[in-house]
Amino acid sequence: PFLDTEKDAHGHRQVSELPSKLLAGIQQISLRRYQGFWLPESWVPAAVSIQHRFKPRPDDVIISSLPKCGTTWLVALAFATMARHAYPPSAADHPLLCLNPHQCIAFLEGVFLGGPAREERLEALPSPRLVNTHMPHALLPQSLVDCGSRVVYICREPKDMVVSMWHYLRTVHPELSLQDTLDSVCDGASRCGPFWDHALGYWRASTASPDSRVLFLRYEELLRDPASNVKRLAQFVGQPFSPAEEEAGVLADVVRLCSLDNLRSLDVNKTGIVGPLLKTPRKALFRKGVAGDWVNHMTPEMARRMDDVVADKLGHTGLDF
Ligand code: A3P
Repeated sequence: PFLDTEKDAHGHRQVSELPSKLLAGIQQISLRRYQGFWLPESWVPAAVSIQHRFKPRPDDVIISSLPKCGTTWLVALAFATMARHAYPPSAADHPLLCLNPHQCIAFLEGVFLGGPAREERLEALPSPRLVNTHMPHALLPQSLVDCGSRVVYICREPKDMVVSMWHYLRTVHPELSLQDTLDSVCDGASRCGPFWDHALGYWRASTASPDSRVLFLRYEELLRDPASNVKRLAQFVGQPFSPAEEEAGVLADVVRLCSLDNLRSLDVNKTGIVGPLLKTPRKALFRKGVAGDWVNHMTPEMARRMDDVVADKLGHTGLDF
């Protein structure tokens, strides 16, 4: 019910109005409701700028996700795939061997928080550009949809997303409980949530027409068969793997380069922090990488609560988990 209360003149909800239990569970970051979604407070100006100043191009590729749904993996796979002619995935000096995947592509929220110089750098990037965002589909500029930019979305089974989020946030907030993390997500008030509206926005865009410019991927499918999904991704972005490339093992090299074991073994991913917003160590981006880990952490009541929310919010939509 708290989601339906009055907004201020800018469509924001004041942080001080939030119930304290929610604040405790909210990852220690102040969230504001903006156009129906809970954004970290500092991202609200970025969301406004993205809507008004981002100039999408028809050949842009936007990676989108909720945090903890496999973003880092998808960013790495998309970068390795799209840059494979400049950087063969088997090369000893491949950028992914000395940079964290998030350093290889622009993060839209970061660009539009970073001032004019960052925006100019994005403008100066040659096409096709590859960028990522956590923004909901509804908050992307209409010009992005109109010009036909491609969007690749990854979603994940929500209970696993919650467990992953809890582990991740505990690296900087050890007192955070799984119950509070779950409560925030189930209440809709987690980063860029409600998670059901986030996933549904991209799901509907992906199923709206046979030639939709949104590719909807699932973390579990990627785990089950990474090569087939990378092939789909390459095809979708207009850079299909040729039979000769497959024969030469380029597709397999991309998958190997971006595997969890490989990425987490690299010095660059063992040190440093992810970013200024949340000072989590980079190594926390690479944890277990399996489907179904929730059974090891959630009580039956917790699992039922999440399943009930999913059934309630998504049961009639055709999107299931
Ligand atoms: P777990 O915490 O369940 O292990 P994000 O990048 O959106 O923050 O998602 C993080 C999740 O993706 C973590 O899940 C992490 O272990 C997993 N992950 C990161 N890199 C991966 C990779 N190369 N292959 C498979 N899973 C990966």
